[in-house]
Amino acid sequence: MQRRDFLKLVGGTSLVAIAPSLIEGELRADDGTLFRAYKKVQLLDAEGNPLLASKLILEENYVFNYPHVGTSCLLIALPTPTTKNVKLKSELDEEYIWKSGVGKNSNIVAYSAICPHQLTHVNKEDTFMSYVPTGGKTMACKKDSVIVCGSHLSAYEPTKGCEVLSGPAPQPLASIVLEHHDDDTLWAVAVLGPDKFHDFFKSFKPELKEQYGGKRKAKKLVAGSAQVVKLSNFTKNIIQY
Ligand code: FES
Repeated sequence: MQRRDFLKLVGGTSLVAIAPSLIEGELRADDGTLFRAYKKVQLLDAEGNPLLASKLILEENYVFNYPHVGTSCLLIALPTPTTKNVKLKSELDEEYIWKSGVGKNSNIVAYSAICPHQLTHVNKEDTFMSYVPTGGKTMACKKDSVIVCGSHLSAYEPTKGCEVLSGPAPQPLASIVLEHHDDDTLWAVAVLGPDKFHDFFKSFKPELKEQYGGKRKAKKLVAGSAQVVKLSNFTKNIIQY
């Protein structure tokens, strides 16, 4: 298969014509698509059993680490179906298409929890980034059902690939490409959109040492499976403005 043919087939978050996990390496299409396939990883629940999409609590903040051992992602079952084929732009003006969430109602999404503004991120001590559920209040915008980075009040729209709604964030959160299989299991397979992994690993060496035993260990790619836990069980303090 030609590289260009593959890119025509992929370019999204949920529907792929071939398993992206078969192909590793960063792909930047001529049309601006940003996509990087990683090892296919099965999501497990807090007890270590396969996580089933139907068991997710709606609007709960869940966390798992992917594609690196030390990079956390938010997983959310949204209250409404997501919008399909959202055109997004990186801060370098590269366009990419976010296809949709996964699951029966296309409402399950996952995003890399590293803010592209100044790298605030979900971590085990203090977490300033989380999903504000329906009816919740945030100083970042008038809307609820949004992901907010409380450091400088950026709000992201999780039903639309985490496009920026307000605040200084220069681009969307990178999205984690999920697969939902017939047996209701969930898998992470790739990252779509511009990620901040390189800057993150460069900037937080002491934290990575404390929480993951060092930068090298934190940078290792997750293999096989990744455990999904509630954010409230992952971090000591959730700070939401
Ligand atoms: S670091 Fe997230 S808004 Fe500034």
